Amino acid sequence: MLRPGLEGVPVTQSAICDIDGNQGELNYRGYPIAELAAKSSFLETTFLLIWGELPSASQLRDFEEAIQMHRRLSFRVRDMMKCFPASGHPMDALQSSAASLGLFYSRRAIDDPEYIYDAVVRLIAKIPTMVAAFQLIRKGEDPIRPRDDLPYSANFLYMLTEKEPDPLAARVFDRCLILHAEHSLNASTFSARVTASTLTDPYAVIASAVGTLAGPLHGGANEDVIAMLEEINSPDKAKAYLERAITKKTKIMGFGHREYKVKDPRATLLQSFAEDLFARFGTDEMYNVAKAVENEASPLLGPKGIYPNVDFYSGLVYRKLGIPRDLFTPIFAISRVAGWLAHWREQLSANRIFRPTQIYTGAKTRTWVALDERAKN
Ligand code: ACO
Repeated sequence: MLRPGLEGVPVTQSAICDIDGNQGELNYRGYPIAELAAKSSFLETTFLLIWGELPSASQLRDFEEAIQMHRRLSFRVRDMMKCFPASGHPMDALQSSAASLGLFYSRRAIDDPEYIYDAVVRLIAKIPTMVAAFQLIRKGEDPIRPRDDLPYSANFLYMLTEKEPDPLAARVFDRCLILHAEHSLNASTFSARVTASTLTDPYAVIASAVGTLAGPLHGGANEDVIAMLEEINSPDKAKAYLERAITKKTKIMGFGHREYKVKDPRATLLQSFAEDLFARFGTDEMYNVAKAVENEASPLLGPKGIYPNVDFYSGLVYRKLGIPRDLFTPIFAISRVAGWLAHWREQLSANRIFRPTQIYTGAKTRTWVALDERAKN
């Protein structure tokens, strides 16, 4: 039986992430997301996702130090990025730069634990540097070097804005990375697992997942949410906008999820992070529009199980942190690389190459027609 979008079809076993879409619950390796966001750091959560257990103090220190040592980009990668068109989307720049790492590091050692650890460290360390580097390069500036004295998230914001971030901004950003780090077998993670199943190198696995995340039905929706809020522009116009969109069968960006039939727990947390930032740095008028959209959508879309997803409030948080809109999805990728790498390892531990089947609907065997005998048009 054909199942479009593979809805409800299990294609692997996994011990990484558990979602209860009716209760609005999300756990990484058994730990509730809200607890991780409150108590953990992004790098500690990354370790947990990839190796299955919380690190000891010395394991975490070693992991953090290794990542700090590998944050810089080779001048060759930076020079390559300088050749990218400044008008290109940063997700395309990231996909190309991530794939280029495969040129620098051997691809034939994916059963060697040392190679796996090094690849994890390199990808977690270098992806943020790539995102920040492209941002400066496209403005005609030289990328700035990572600062060894700054932790992971603070260093990323520093590389992006050239200013040391406020501690609250850095902590909120780190918590956002925790929330986006993993979400079971969504499109980009499935893409990562399919690519991993061919036994190619981890850089190709991540590049393939980045390409999949870029689409507006997946990670790219966070950019479209801000565009939608700006188009609505005022809370009192939210209801009419929604009614028009529903009549025209246009999707409301940042709403709906294949797994959740209630409000995405990450949306609830992101909304509270946005409020923390607004309390400290001043509000954003688009937040009132967003709240009006959520309220007005509840009677219209709620009965179909369509509520805000992770992308609905994340853009408002990033906007308040001064991050340009087209970097929202690359930031999602900075975080999700943790989940993709966890799935890469899990796929390799019990690998069988993905090769689904199809229901053929094309022509049966046909008779060849020579070029000069074909109908002219
Ligand atoms: N706005 C309005 N109606 C919606 C929405 C929405 N955002 N999402 C789903 N629906 C409706 C559909 O129109 C459809 O209605 P119908 O049965 O009357 O035709 C029904 O709900 C089922 O929709 P599908 O698109 O088939 O649901 P699916 O599970 O395939 O899609 C998806 C999930 C892609 C997330 C969808 O809800 C959507 O396009 N949302 C908007 C884009 C978005 O926010 N994406 C980010 C998702 S989170 C992430 O990937 C990180």
